[in-house]
Amino acid sequence: MLTVDFRSDPSTFADAEALYLEVRRAEGRVLSPEALRKLPVVAADDPHAREWQIRAATADRLINYLRGRQPHPHILDLGCGPGWMTARLVRELKATTVGIDCNRSELERGAEAFGAIEGLQLVYGDIFEPVVDAASFDVVIVSAALQYFPDPDALLIRLLELLKPNGEILIADTPLYRREEIPAAAERTRDYYTKLGFPQMTEHYHHHAFDDLATFSPELIYDPRGMVSRIGRSVFRRPLSPFPVLQISRPKSP
Ligand SMILES: C[S@@+](CC[C@H](N)C(=O)[O-])C[C@H]1O[C@@H](n2cnc3c(N)ncnc32)[C@H](O)[C@@H]1O
Repeated sequence: MLTVDFRSDPSTFADAEALYLEVRRAEGRVLSPEALRKLPVVAADDPHAREWQIRAATADRLINYLRGRQPHPHILDLGCGPGWMTARLVRELKATTVGIDCNRSELERGAEAFGAIEGLQLVYGDIFEPVVDAASFDVVIVSAALQYFPDPDALLIRLLELLKPNGEILIADTPLYRREEIPAAAERTRDYYTKLGFPQMTEHYHHHAFDDLATFSPELIYDPRGMVSRIGRSVFRRPLSPFPVLQISRPKSP
């Protein structure tokens, strides 16, 4: 039976966690263990069905990208939530994977759903604390999570410390804007959370520009603005993500 390994003090994030949970409940995103086990597959009439099709396409893209890595990689899934992607990485890549989050109830539901999977570990911790070993991961995945961190520079510097010498960071399912697009996006986010009844959630959701990551020389593994993906989405209605997949390597030491 999988249990959550507590490495940070849960009281630090208790208020943020309670707010996040209320928001997720209002959005209809708090799922039963049975439903979590089926993700990213959901019923056709699920209100988030299209979004899950898109997330499934991104997960397949990440898995296909990592499939060739030998030996089987040791992966950190940062901001794993209940760990559906973390569990999938273990199953599909035979990877050992640590899902880390500072949301206790998400992790505990994940432990209930994915308890029997060998190679999967769920850790409660703040990534900025010494909760995992430095230089110990082949891959760090940041999936649908970068927007919850106010300072991407500080985060990426921290994540680079956690990589082995040939390690890499993969960022997916996060909107990255042109700088001039950010004020309108921030306004849409404020409207959205205000209508949902949780205007205070706006403080926890951040809008980053693609250019904010430039110092880390990201490579585009998937470009949603490329012709093939634009035509795939608009003409053929394929469930392709509107957000990029980025790869950042650990800089070679001189
Ligand atoms: C939207 S969820 C992402 C869920 C999941 N990765 C997925 O693909 O569905 C973002 C998560 O980032 C977590 N998070 C935010 N700040 C964190 C920190 N400092 N350390 C660890 N996790 C953090 C939040 O608790 C939240 O569960």
